[in-house]
Amino acid sequence: MITTKDSDPSSKIIIQITDTHLLADPDAEFVQINPERSFHAVIADILEQHTHIDAIIHTGDLAQVARPETYQRYLDYMTKLNIPFFHIPGNHDDIRYFPFHTPDPKPTVVDLDQWQIVMLNSAVQGKVHGWIQSEQLEYLDQWLNDNRDKHVILACHHHPFAMRSKWIDQHILKNTHDLTHILEKYQHIKAVLFGHVHQESLNQWNHIDFLSTPSTFAQFKPQSENFAFDEVAPGYRYLHLKSDGQFETKVKRLKGFFQKINKEISGY
Ligand SMILES: [Fe+2]
Repeated sequence: MITTKDSDPSSKIIIQITDTHLLADPDAEFVQINPERSFHAVIADILEQHTHIDAIIHTGDLAQVARPETYQRYLDYMTKLNIPFFHIPGNHDDIRYFPFHTPDPKPTVVDLDQWQIVMLNSAVQGKVHGWIQSEQLEYLDQWLNDNRDKHVILACHHHPFAMRSKWIDQHILKNTHDLTHILEKYQHIKAVLFGHVHQESLNQWNHIDFLSTPSTFAQFKPQSENFAFDEVAPGYRYLHLKSDGQFETKVKRLKGFFQKINKEISGY
């Protein structure tokens, strides 16, 4: 799966990574997995499979141990790739240390000419569930109205729709209705990307694809009533954003990357 832009030179190649859950000590393990090693293996695969990447989007939970050194190491590693990269916090992140944190509620907008990616912060300090502040939603509404000639992708950390997994659905984005109330007014939103659920999924609503992506770390068992790990490989999502407003997307998992998870862990 080597992707190129040969047939559509103004198209864009985007990679979504999510839920790296990095520790303060890069050699340490959590549930018998080294998140650093798993993250680096994912990035190595991305670089091997893609000859050109316009941006890497991280949809949150950069850190499992949210300390300045964890984030600094992430930033140092990503900067060396020489690929534009962007991130939003997840419930495990601490916005006191989160890279480039600003009290300004304005979402980050990734400008890719005809395509734009709006990154919304859905993390609530001290909570596992998600909520998008009204100031961000007001900004989003105005921005969508002002940019009707663009193709738009939104990104946030939390899942807007239920995953039919009782434990994880307690930790859903709790004001999805406020978001969809805005989205239903517009025709130029193509997809919403998120992490948090550590599994691949596709939900379609109002002609918009809602897409979740595997973690670069450990995976959660789909449709499980109680917390449960899934023994499938870490991965990432690529998106080929075409100049006609269509897009193709696929999840890629690492081949032959065996992880023995400590299943005794029973909480999140
Ligand atoms: Fe996570």
